[in-house]
Amino acid sequence: MRVAMIGTGYVGLVSGACLSEFGHEVICVDKDPSKIRALEAGQIPIFEPGLDEVVAANVKAGRLSFTTDLKKAVPGADAVFIAVGTPSRRGDGHADLTYVFDAAEEIAQSLDGYTVVVTKSTVPVGTGRKVEDIIRKNRPGADFDVASNPEFLREGSAIEDFRRPDRVVVGCETDRAKAVMREVYRPLYLNETPILFTSRESSELIKYAANAFLATKITFINEMANLCEKLGADVQDVARGIGLDGRIGNKFLHAGPGFGGSCFPKDTLALLRTSQEAGALTHIVDAVVKVNDARKVQMAEKVEQAFGGVKGKTIAILGLTFKPNTDDMRDAPSLVIVPHLQAKGARIRAYDPEGAKEAKKHLDIDYCADAYEALSGADGVVILTEWNEFRALDFARMKGLLKTPLMVDLRNIYRPAQMAEQGFAYVSVGRAGARPKS
Ligand SMILES: NC(=O)c1ccc[n+]([C@@H]2O[C@H](COP(=O)([O-])OP(=O)(O)OC[C@H]3O[C@@H](n4cnc5c(N)ncnc54)[C@H](O)[C@@H]3O)[C@@H](O)[C@H]2O)c1
Repeated sequence: MRVAMIGTGYVGLVSGACLSEFGHEVICVDKDPSKIRALEAGQIPIFEPGLDEVVAANVKAGRLSFTTDLKKAVPGADAVFIAVGTPSRRGDGHADLTYVFDAAEEIAQSLDGYTVVVTKSTVPVGTGRKVEDIIRKNRPGADFDVASNPEFLREGSAIEDFRRPDRVVVGCETDRAKAVMREVYRPLYLNETPILFTSRESSELIKYAANAFLATKITFINEMANLCEKLGADVQDVARGIGLDGRIGNKFLHAGPGFGGSCFPKDTLALLRTSQEAGALTHIVDAVVKVNDARKVQMAEKVEQAFGGVKGKTIAILGLTFKPNTDDMRDAPSLVIVPHLQAKGARIRAYDPEGAKEAKKHLDIDYCADAYEALSGADGVVILTEWNEFRALDFARMKGLLKTPLMVDLRNIYRPAQMAEQGFAYVSVGRAGARPKS
């Protein structure tokens, strides 16, 4: 099959590379010439574990190529995927569909023979119909269908998620489109991946409902963490105790500084706006958005309190990205917590294994080459992102570098008793803290 992927960001590049691994001939298109130049030179413009190998192998096999010219990719393609960004529209939180509609117009000009145009971007209900209208208006005689195929991959484990998804969701209206989409995902039938065919509207809503549900789980356990702190309970025991119930499940029950990233914040907001407009307000999502916004500020205040005020203090921050194994800084909790601490007079020394380049665009702080450099001369350390390399720090070395042995662990990667044993004052989320054993 021939596939065109419009938009070569986190989703487009991973999807394009993995579809070429399935055996399809894929051309990835992006407007950003620097991205395409890098890819053509064998460089990967984002950090995603394993992506470089998949890209290199399939480029070498002649199944994967890159271009800035959509007209070279669309004619002759059986399926054209739209994987462009749908950020929050400034001011009202609706999904900004400018990129999607611009791509649809451009695609319309180049359609040639029966083609399924597939929206992989996360888009509000009704967008598929609008994309179809745009294409029909621009090319009244074109032979095409528009399908919805939301993407559920997680940054940091995107390759595995694409190769072995829990399910594939496709919303389409005709048997012809269904047949093409079946063929696109045929290799997954061998793994017995459920492929769910629905209406376009249901498919579009499934993506928002899934993200809102997961964001709700995170927010729920964060509120339980606050309650644990007041009542002397341990949120990790509570999470395990409820998560072992098969009806609840143990994923997305880690208390922390609030959800961030390129999806949950904008998608919960967009679903809220959709629900308001539809006259069926989703009160739970409304609460999730508000609680999560407040959460980030609360966590900054928690740090302030742990340090006994931060004016004139130097704080070492470990981790800036919204989660480990990505360089994505979009809506990361650090973008609220760090400026808050700076505004209260703190100096920040930070280390992130992959996020520094992106973080530099947003945060004016001291960037360090490793965790220990960040700790050097600081009044205490805050763990903001649970990168694996922060899970086994050398405590003796840390104590030698810090002015005071204080750790605020906003991801609960250490145990209070262990930290007390190691001589640290330790503050975490939803659990009793620890004082150093003298
Ligand atoms: N990032 C994730 O983890 C994730 C997961 C699931 C779904 N999604 C959804 O997938 C979509 C894409 O997200 P992303 O994180 O990959 O975005 P991104 O910003 O990383 O990439 C989008 C790319 O599209 C390009 N682009 C925009 N208009 C174009 C056009 N007309 N022609 C060619 N290229 C164009 C941009 O230059 C950019 O490189 C969004 O709707 C997002 O909500 C993202």
